[in-house]
Amino acid sequence: MRVSVFGLGYVGCVTAARLAEAGHKVVGVDLNDQKVAMINSGVSPIVEPGLEELLGRVKAAGHLRATSSCEEAVAASDVALICVGTPSQANGRMSAEALARVCRGIGNVLGATRKPYTVVVRSTVMPGTTAEVVMPALRAGIGNGERPDVKVAVNPEFMREGTALRDFQSPPFTLVGCEDKATSWQLRELYEKVDAQFVQTSVRTAEMLKYASNAFHALKVCFANEIGDLCEATRVDAREVMRVFCLDHKLNLSDAYLKPGFAFGGSCLPKDIRALNQVARAADVDTPVLSTLLPANVARIRAAAATVLATHKRRVGVVGLAFK
Ligand SMILES: NC(=O)c1ccc[n+]([C@@H]2O[C@H](COP(=O)([O-])OP(=O)(O)OC[C@H]3O[C@@H](n4cnc5c(N)ncnc54)[C@H](O)[C@@H]3O)[C@@H](O)[C@H]2O)c1
Repeated sequence: MRVSVFGLGYVGCVTAARLAEAGHKVVGVDLNDQKVAMINSGVSPIVEPGLEELLGRVKAAGHLRATSSCEEAVAASDVALICVGTPSQANGRMSAEALARVCRGIGNVLGATRKPYTVVVRSTVMPGTTAEVVMPALRAGIGNGERPDVKVAVNPEFMREGTALRDFQSPPFTLVGCEDKATSWQLRELYEKVDAQFVQTSVRTAEMLKYASNAFHALKVCFANEIGDLCEATRVDAREVMRVFCLDHKLNLSDAYLKPGFAFGGSCLPKDIRALNQVARAADVDTPVLSTLLPANVARIRAAAATVLATHKRRVGVVGLAFK
């Protein structure tokens, strides 16, 4: 397949190199001339184990080249993977500035041709970005007229810096958010050599999944650190606790307790979390994550009650009151 990769940063370089290795004809695009020159010399613009060697190989095989010209890249490809940065603005809001600029540029080129094209957002973007930024920018670039032959998809990346090449080849899943079967099949073919189950969702689901995953990973780190601090305060070996904790794939590392819905309750969870937080307070251990669990749960109950009260119905049925 002929592929262009916009943004030769961490995600773009690894994506371009691995796809070129899989036999695709890849053109990398970046505004930064130095990065373009480095890729064209087979030198890696980022520090990542094994990447420079791979770039040298795929470059020598004629499977990868780089350019700063959007026209050249679109002309030489049928699919564009957009891997530009989506950094935080001062208030935390995700910036889609680079994404919009790239899409407008691609649209401009497509407006002057009749070629079918697929634009794939690989950057991490908030739900609604494809509909509210990517598609309008493409349309603005294309100019007048409907272009049903220009397709859009979201394909978040799950690599980690330091193990990016391995992660690319064996991710948790290949996630594609798109609204039509043909685009889904096109991306299935693109990632044919990747060892992962292929999951197709709606565009908005795919956009949100990356944030949900990252939030959960951050939560895991903070949780493990707080348990570690509490272990230290109670003279318990934290590593041993977490090693055994991770042996439980029924309740701990599983899909248990991960279905959005109502609050937790029962006789154990509230009581034990209360006790754990009391020990933390007594030992002067700061546990911002663990200490927020009960207030978060109470807020959930209040929100549910408010939803019921807002209906102004006088007769209310309760389903699933008993938990055992
Ligand atoms: N770094 C990671 O490990 C990682 C992992 C998964 C997802 N992501 C997400 O992937 C996206 C890219 O992350 P990154 O770390 O590779 O970013 P990065 O900052 O390393 O690279 C972005 C590249 O895009 C280029 N660029 C900006 N505007 C451009 C334009 N108009 N045309 C062409 N190139 C342009 C920049 O020059 C830069 O080289 C982000 O949304 C990020 O959140 C990153």
